[in-house]
Amino acid sequence: MTMETFDRLRSRITSIDSMPTIPVILRPLLRCLDQPVEQIDITRIVELISYDKTIAAQCVRMANSALFGRHKQVESVRTAVMNLGMWRVRDLLFSNSLSQVIPANRWIVDPTVFWRHSLGVALVCRKFAEILGYPDTEKAYLAGLLHDIGILVNSMVAPEEFRAAFSKATREQIALDEAERATMGFTHCDSGRVLAEAWKITPDLIQAIELHHDIGDPVRGGPLVAMVHLSDLLCRLRGLGYGYYEPRQVDFANERGWLYLVMQFPNLADLDLARFTFTLDEYAKEVEELVSTVFTR
Ligand SMILES: [Fe+2]
Ligand SMILES: [Fe+2]
Repeated sequence: MTMETFDRLRSRITSIDSMPTIPVILRPLLRCLDQPVEQIDITRIVELISYDKTIAAQCVRMANSALFGRHKQVESVRTAVMNLGMWRVRDLLFSNSLSQVIPANRWIVDPTVFWRHSLGVALVCRKFAEILGYPDTEKAYLAGLLHDIGILVNSMVAPEEFRAAFSKATREQIALDEAERATMGFTHCDSGRVLAEAWKITPDLIQAIELHHDIGDPVRGGPLVAMVHLSDLLCRLRGLGYGYYEPRQVDFANERGWLYLVMQFPNLADLDLARFTFTLDEYAKEVEELVSTVFTR
């Protein structure tokens, strides 16, 4: 996309009143959670969570869910937070806050499918980062979670065109960005970048959002872009995609993003890729639990 076309898209998106805004609870919570686990102020987290009745109720419900097999009923937010652990609390907060970014009646992609995919990519991306020894695993998680926010923008600013693009992708079983480019002239990667810039998200996250489908040759951005790209592909191929089947064959060992990461992090060459993709099934269970907690009101 040329700079000129991008500028036109930016003014089109930002001039619309219904531009998604960043959820208020997210910033203070992020600040609190964005430190080493031993320094996290649990009392403050519990306090922030208690401001939001829905999120508080979801924490308690999740702590009591089958996944955690509790014998004793959890009733307080504090006990729920302690039992769930910071990772899961964070997952819950993100998915909950972001699920409110657009009104319930404006979704074009099924929101459950969307969050299942976004959380799946976030968890896989964090795992990738851990394996690689990438220094900021939380950033990897966040990049995975936010990579498709352009889908939310498209649903708000160009609902009819985006509906047509999504049904083309589903019908022809092609990648969403391909269908968007053909139908709308821009993709959720472009509109995601506009939103991320408006939200003042850090430049490396913006790149991951913008480049996750087309990482370039040579790879643009850096390891974060490649990790999100591969995590997105893995999830789509393992049934955590956008809710339709994509009959594509991907040879990971020869994928550009993979080769790039192996070059940057030689220890990746030893990873058993088949086993790694298998661990996705474990995540799928956890993601499912989380998504059903967030969407059962
Ligand atoms: Fe995408
Ligand atoms: Fe995606």
